Amino acid sequence: GNRVFNFKLVLLGESAVGKSSLVVRFAKDQFDEYRESTIGAAFFTQVVPVDDTTSVKFEIWDTAGQERYKSLAPMYYRNAQCAVIVYDITKAETFERAKSWVKELQRQADPDIVIALVGNKNDLETNRAVTAEECQAYADEGGLLFKETSAKTGANVLELFQTIAKKMPLD
Ligand code: GTP
Ligand code: MG
Repeated sequence: GNRVFNFKLVLLGESAVGKSSLVVRFAKDQFDEYRESTIGAAFFTQVVPVDDTTSVKFEIWDTAGQERYKSLAPMYYRNAQCAVIVYDITKAETFERAKSWVKELQRQADPDIVIALVGNKNDLETNRAVTAEECQAYADEGGLLFKETSAKTGANVLELFQTIAKKMPLD
C-alpha cells in the first residue's frame, strides 16, 4: 500500500534571502519578483514522493526573517523534525547569519533534527559573494545537507525537499 509520512519543517534565515519564495516555488510552482516580507510566520504543506510506495508530507512553517520577529523562532523550530536554513549567495552577511542559526538549532532544537543549509538566488551568479565550496565544507563539518537553489528559476528546489525527505526516518 501507499505510505505517507508527515514531518514538520521550519524555514529560517535573514529577511529577503528568499524563504517564502522557496516554499511558494515548492508548494505552488510560482514565483513573484515583488513578494511582501513575511509577518510572523506562514504555513504551507506539500507532498513529495520518495519511491513507488512512499511519500513525505512536509508541514512547513515559513518564519519571518526581520529582527523584530526573532523571539518567535523557537516556537517553530522546537517541534520541527527538519530545518532549512537559507542564505543569499550574493550577500555574505546572510551566510554569517545562517551559521548562527545552525549553532542555535544545534543547542536548542531536537538533537535528531535534519538540517539543510541552502544558498538561494544562484541565478545571480555575477553577484556571487559566497562560494559553494566554502559552504559545502562548512556543511560537511557540521553534518548538514547543502544545496544551492533558485526560487526564481526553480533550480534544485524539488531536489532539496526530496533530499531532505530521503534523510528522514521512514519506518
Ligand atoms: P522575510 O519574509 O522578510 O523573512 O523574507 P524572505 O526570506 O521570505 O524573502 P522573500 O521570499 O520575500 O524574497 C525576497 C526577495 O528576493 C523578493 O523580491 C523575491 O522575488 C527575491 N527572490 C527570492 N528568491 C529569489 C531567487 O532565487 N532569485 C532571485 N533573483 N530573486 C529571488
Ligand atoms: Mg518571507
